[in-house]
Amino acid sequence: MVDRKNGTETSKFGSPGRLNHDSSKFYGSRLYEGLPTEKANVKFVENKIDEKNINRIFCKSSEKMEELPDNSVHLMVTSPPYNVGKEYDEDMSLGEYRELLKNIWKEVHRVLVPGGRACINIANLGRKPYIPLHSFIIEDIQKIGFLMRGEIIWNKASSASPSTAWGSWLSAKNPVLRDIHEYILVFSKEAFSRANHDDQPATMTRDEFLELTKSVWTFGAESARKVGHPAPFPVELPLRCIKLYTFENDVVLDPFMGSGTAAVAALMTNRRFIGYDIDKEYIKIAEKRINETFEKKKQKKISELV
Ligand SMILES: C[S@@+](CC[C@H](N)C(=O)[O-])C[C@H]1O[C@@H](n2cnc3c(N)ncnc32)[C@H](O)[C@@H]1O
Repeated sequence: MVDRKNGTETSKFGSPGRLNHDSSKFYGSRLYEGLPTEKANVKFVENKIDEKNINRIFCKSSEKMEELPDNSVHLMVTSPPYNVGKEYDEDMSLGEYRELLKNIWKEVHRVLVPGGRACINIANLGRKPYIPLHSFIIEDIQKIGFLMRGEIIWNKASSASPSTAWGSWLSAKNPVLRDIHEYILVFSKEAFSRANHDDQPATMTRDEFLELTKSVWTFGAESARKVGHPAPFPVELPLRCIKLYTFENDVVLDPFMGSGTAAVAALMTNRRFIGYDIDKEYIKIAEKRINETFEKKKQKKISELV
C-alpha cells in the first residue's frame, strides 16, 4: 500500500511505489552480509594527472599504470582481451587469465577517484560447456572491493549475425543457444555517487538519460575490417558510458585501448582520455582515429559524430 504521507517501505511483495521510499530495512538485511559496501566517511580526493600524460596512449601492459596517480581517473571503460586466440591473445588457462585481469582491476581501483565508475564490456564464450566470463569478472572484482552497480545487456540485434551452430536443428535433442548480446558490467569505487558536482551542467538530454538508465541497450556492432582491429567495440558503447557517468573535462581511462574507440568517444564529448595497449600497430590505428576526431572537432563537425 502507498501511504503518501509516511512514504513506502520495501514490502514482501516488492515495492508499490517510489515516493519517499524507505529501503533501509532491505539494505540492512543479511542478504548484504559479506558484500563490499560503501566506505564510511569517504574522502573525495581527486589528484591531478600530469598534463603531459593526458590524451595519450602508452604502449605497455596496464598491469602497472605508474603514469597515473591514485584517485585521478573518473571513468574506466574497456573491453578486455578474451583470450580466444585473437592476434593479441596468449593461450592462458582460465586461472591465469583471471589473474591477469585481477591485477589490472586492482590498478584501476587505485587510480579511480572515489565514486568513479568502471564499465567492463565482456561476452561469454563456448558452449560445451559455456564459460560465463562475466560472472568470473563480477566475482573477482567484488573481492577487490568494487561496488557493483548493475549490468547492462548490450543487444547487438541484427548486427550480431549469430552463428548457425544451433545444434540439433528443430529437435530437442541438443539445441544450442546463439548469443546476440554482450554485457557491460558497471562498478564504482568506495562510494555510489560522485561528489561536489551539483553545479556542473548536464551533458545529456532528458531522452538520453531515460534511455541510458535502462538495463538493455540496443545498437549495432562495429566492423573489425573497417577499423583494422580484430575486436573493436562501436563508438556508441563508450559514448553512452561517458555521457551517463562523467562530466565535461573528466578523465576517461581504457586499459585495453586497441583501436582507440574510447578515446574517440571521450574527445567527441569534451572529456580527456588515457589509454594503454601492448600492440604498437593498434596504437598507430588509434592515433590516426584520434587525429581525425581532433580534425572534425576543429572543423566543428562534431554533430556529425555524436
Ligand atoms: C578487445 S581488444 C580492445 C578493443 C578496443 N575496445 C577497440 O575498440 O579497439 C583488447 C586489447 O587489449 C590489448 N591487450 C592485451 N593485453 C594487454 C595488457 N596486458 N595491457 C594492455 N593492453 C593489452 C590487445 O592488444 C587488444 O588491443
